[in-house]
Amino acid sequence: MAARPPRRPHEPVKFAYWVPNVSGGLVISDIEQRTSWDIDYNRELARIAERSGFDYALTQIRFTAGYGAEFQHESVAFSHALAAATEKLTVIAALLPGPWNPTLAGKQLATISQLTGGRIAINVVSGWFRGEFAAIGEPWLDHDERYRRSEEFIRALRGVWTEDSFTFNGDFYRYRDYSLKPKPLDPLPEIFQGGSSRAARDMAARVSDWYFTNGNTPENVARQVDDIQGKAAELGRYVKIGVNAFAVVRETEAEARAVVDEIVEKANPDAVKAFGHEVKNAGAASPEGEGNWAKSSFEDLVQYNDGFKSNLIGTPRQIADRILDLKDAGVDLVLLGFLHFQEEVEFFGREVIPLVRELEARRRPVHAAA
Ligand SMILES: Cc1cc2nc3c(=O)[nH]c(=O)nc-3n(C[C@H](O)[C@H](O)[C@H](O)COP(=O)(O)O)c2cc1C
Repeated sequence: MAARPPRRPHEPVKFAYWVPNVSGGLVISDIEQRTSWDIDYNRELARIAERSGFDYALTQIRFTAGYGAEFQHESVAFSHALAAATEKLTVIAALLPGPWNPTLAGKQLATISQLTGGRIAINVVSGWFRGEFAAIGEPWLDHDERYRRSEEFIRALRGVWTEDSFTFNGDFYRYRDYSLKPKPLDPLPEIFQGGSSRAARDMAARVSDWYFTNGNTPENVARQVDDIQGKAAELGRYVKIGVNAFAVVRETEAEARAVVDEIVEKANPDAVKAFGHEVKNAGAASPEGEGNWAKSSFEDLVQYNDGFKSNLIGTPRQIADRILDLKDAGVDLVLLGFLHFQEEVEFFGREVIPLVRELEARRRPVHAAA
């Protein structure tokens, strides 16, 4: 195993929630979801989340319906509205290179950073939905070409954000003596990325601040972490790791399990299968023939990003223990989806986060306690 820089176990694990800015929630199921994609619901949710100990909110970028998600608010505009409605939360705006280029993204995000006291970050997504690209007339690049473009996007964006008279000669983006003014506030917006393929991991090691991956077991997350951190260390970098989870926290484990069973029972089988087909095809087109969803079962695919696999399903005590297991595997942030967002984010903040903090304090090494 390659050398990796020391972990920082004394840093508290961070929490993010998925912003429901698209309709239909985070599961492809007809189960009742007391969640709305509208702005009033989302403003209130963002306030609840920051009061409850959440650090980040992650928006989604979708241009068309597909497998549910009939309506979709645009992520950058929506992120600004949520940051404007809150005081501490950092909102992560999802961007898709193709529709976005680093010039537009750089300018938009610099302005939002100025307007919100720097409470904006981005998630660079590389695309899995071929039908969406066709619908909006965007060329569908091969899997690794999409990542090559995303990497160049991130390099160009950092240049635009940090340099004056910025000159860049890429295959996708070019600049000549460009000076963006004003620049974003310092520290710069953090750059997250989503995806788990070989190309995604290599991009993370080279250029991203954060690597987001689909839900998984601590063992499988640890494998990805070792791989990425080994490569990052060779470049003198440390990449922070975020993992997705769909949380079902109830007073008893049986109650929580029953909710997941009902979600899966009421899943829309045609939509789940069609979604599975699309995402597996997107991954199969990578050189290693894999991707985020290569090993996902029908049940896994009912949650868009394999959130059941992280197994945050049970009592507050069980969830807190499992979050610590993920942390031991190298996770810095847990990204959470819920069935009934407002009430469950509040419950999670009240019942789970304090237990996580207790466990972290108990495990804190003596030299780090000062
Ligand atoms: C946490 C997370 C959030 C994502 N958000 C979006 C999104 O908002 N819009 C989108 O089109 N794709 C999104 N993706 C998909 C990824 O950008 C990527 O296309 C997908 O994971 C396949 O990557 P892979 O082939 O490297 O495994 C997200 C992925 C993850 C893990």
